[in-house]
Amino acid sequence: MRIGTPNSHSAVRVLLLGSGELGKEVVISLQRYGVEVIAVDRYPGAPAHQVAHRAHVVDMTDAAAIRTLIERERPHFIVPEIEAIATDALADIERLGLAKIVPNARAVRLTMNREGIRRLAAEELGLPTSPYAFADSCDALAEAAAKIGFPCFVKPIMSSSGKGQSMLKGPDDVEAAWAHAREGGRVKACRVIVEGRIEFDFEITLLTVRSPTPAGDAGIAFCEPIGHRQQGGDYVESWQPQPLNPKARERAEAIARSVVDALGGRGLFGVELFVRGDEVWFSEVSPRPHDTGMVTMISQAQNEFELHVRAILGLPVDTALRRPGASAVIYGGMAAEGIAFEGLEQALSVPESEIRLFGKPEAFPRRRMGVALAAADTVDEARRRAAQAASAVRPVAVPA
Ligand SMILES: Nc1ncnc2c1ncn2[C@@H]1O[C@H](COP(=O)(O)OP(=O)(O)O)[C@@H](O)[C@H]1O
Ligand SMILES: [Mg+2]
Repeated sequence: MRIGTPNSHSAVRVLLLGSGELGKEVVISLQRYGVEVIAVDRYPGAPAHQVAHRAHVVDMTDAAAIRTLIERERPHFIVPEIEAIATDALADIERLGLAKIVPNARAVRLTMNREGIRRLAAEELGLPTSPYAFADSCDALAEAAAKIGFPCFVKPIMSSSGKGQSMLKGPDDVEAAWAHAREGGRVKACRVIVEGRIEFDFEITLLTVRSPTPAGDAGIAFCEPIGHRQQGGDYVESWQPQPLNPKARERAEAIARSVVDALGGRGLFGVELFVRGDEVWFSEVSPRPHDTGMVTMISQAQNEFELHVRAILGLPVDTALRRPGASAVIYGGMAAEGIAFEGLEQALSVPESEIRLFGKPEAFPRRRMGVALAAADTVDEARRRAAQAASAVRPVAVPA
């Protein structure tokens, strides 16, 4: 790998589709290598826009708009940071050799749709998953839910961060779940997956890096498992390492390897798994850094963003844990533009703590505006410290 000078004829250019807080950290890692970065999002002033060489506001579900931008910017790599992208445009770009899609256009297409990745994992790879069925109408949903049994989860096949998702306790919940899915899905034509509930002891994200070895073939490396707690389908805290018994660990790694090798390409993947005793179920996978993986900003020498960048650039990776760590989310707590944060002095007086504020121009009550990180001798202590630091940060409205 050869890296040139940004903003010159020799530059290596990376274009990011999606410029949220995860993209911002990817950009910072790229900047450290002198890569020229172009950040794209649907609104101005997105977190990664603020640290890139150039920023664009584009509707990323518009294939023609993506194609025009790519012809203008001529990136060497295109790194999707979100799921809602016109993936047919990416497939064309890949086929024509205009740029390298990370990890590849097929992986991006399969994982943006719960049906694509579920059928690949369960039906082609034979991996254990929750029982599932699909439905395109309220009546079909009632039938599918009855077949899967209660309790079950209903999720739009095109959605993320818990949007449009509900848990059904019985047949009476079907109608409300259908209405909620219609509102929360990314596309108007509503199709949902119904999943039987897995009674897990805990859930993990297994960050898995696929990158070339010195011999030139694709190597797989695992980070220590990350434990996390979700509320309404969105993560509130995560920690690393989450201990697994040897059998569960072996199964978790085998599942992650199987999925990641089937998706292919280079990069870091966040494999979500449910664990009960020795048993492990595949849930879903992100072909990119994962929100629960923000803990690695404090727990690993090479965090998930650095690992993604190294894998993309074909550089050596080291997934070793540095120290037990935890992350806790800081929410907006209100709907307002240009809010401020107080209490950083108290937050950062927590031992071994760090705070990241994402710089999002607009807050919502449950919008993720920042994250508190903490390290400690034990995961329990790291979790306490991260929670304490996060709760010390107070969002306040600032009149214009
Ligand atoms: N089949 C299931 N059994 C048990 N819990 C589930 C199931 N599906 C989802 N959940 C819970 O909901 C969370 C979000 O679901 P997920 O499928 O990961 O959606 P998203 O794409 O929005 O992250 C999971 O992390 C888990 O806590
Ligand atoms: Mg998830």
